[in-house]
Amino acid sequence: MTDFAKRVTSIDISGIRKMFESAAPGSINMGLGQPDFDTPENIKNAAIKALSDGMTGYTNNAGIDELRAAVAEKLKTENGVSVEPSNVLITAGGSGALHASIMSLIEDGQKVVFNNPGFVSYGSLATLAGGVPDPVPLRPDLHLDVEALKEHFSDKKTKVMVLNSPANPTGAVETKDTIKAVVESAADYGVTVLSDEVYEKFCYGDAKFVSAALFGDNVVTINAASKTYAMTGWRIGFMAASKEIIDQAVKVQQYSLACPTSIAQYAALEAYTGDQSSIGVMKKEYEARRNLIINGLRDLGISVSMPEGAFYAFPKLDLDTVMKIVAGGVIITPGAAFGSNGAGYARMSYATSQKNILIALDRIRKAVE
Ligand SMILES: Cc1ncc(COP(=O)(O)O)c(C=O)c1O
Repeated sequence: MTDFAKRVTSIDISGIRKMFESAAPGSINMGLGQPDFDTPENIKNAAIKALSDGMTGYTNNAGIDELRAAVAEKLKTENGVSVEPSNVLITAGGSGALHASIMSLIEDGQKVVFNNPGFVSYGSLATLAGGVPDPVPLRPDLHLDVEALKEHFSDKKTKVMVLNSPANPTGAVETKDTIKAVVESAADYGVTVLSDEVYEKFCYGDAKFVSAALFGDNVVTINAASKTYAMTGWRIGFMAASKEIIDQAVKVQQYSLACPTSIAQYAALEAYTGDQSSIGVMKKEYEARRNLIINGLRDLGISVSMPEGAFYAFPKLDLDTVMKIVAGGVIITPGAAFGSNGAGYARMSYATSQKNILIALDRIRKAVE
């Protein structure tokens, strides 16, 4: 029998995929964090043009210059974060940016702090890099617990914190004050903050998105075209950081995937510099779906907080009920798939039509009555 590396055998396949595999035919899929919108036409056309123009070779390991410049410009004008194109590394989705930054920063045994419940990749990437995942429970209102985070920062083994607002799986959007406090207290202890901003554009009501990099030099900004432009399959994201960090991260990318896909980079260039109106259309629709699903769940007597961003509802549902709902034809994900503190909850992605949400609510009603 083959012996495998412990850093791989010690991590498990994502619980989200497992639910998907056990679903009945005809199920409504509220399991995956994937926009149900198609990539806007102007972006697709840019890829077609790149293809016919023969842009099919390797690009720079750090990505094409035009896209690095477009991202730097986006960060400056939309987020108030001043960076040069040389501070930007184009990656294979937000995942590629998380991988390159954690691999660059984490030494054996060093800790990566993140929210519990939180996005499934953070802990596994820490383990793959030889580090130690250190999930910190959220407050009962599903927001970051700054005092608890400070305690974890003070542990000498803590090197990195992943901050994620708007958050997966909770939909929580942290306030400017909270983000500032987290970044500043991380800086006090020499901790680098990876700010995962992939849901930046999807904040609802009064919730406002704020970039963590506004509050310190100890921040790596991570973002992607994936959710913003409904481009999950194109695999384009980026990280923006000090030149020092980029110089290391580019080596991780060079020796793992060489460069992100050339034609997808040209598509992303159009995404970041072309017509932005598709974002507003998607946001408006997500917000209507959010209201539909939250009101629907509450009408069924299910306790759920109003998510301020992203496209997930995170109601209180025990595992038995989750399994009944899945058996009843609605794929949802048990909260424990996002960390121990997610037990007793479930994540429901509302990146699906209002029609599907209404069918799902009806099936949930039958499953819980
Ligand atoms: C919080 C968070 N970060 C990063 C990612 C990865 O995004 P990408 O598809 O760009 O790799 C996801 C995907 O679901 C996510 O939810």
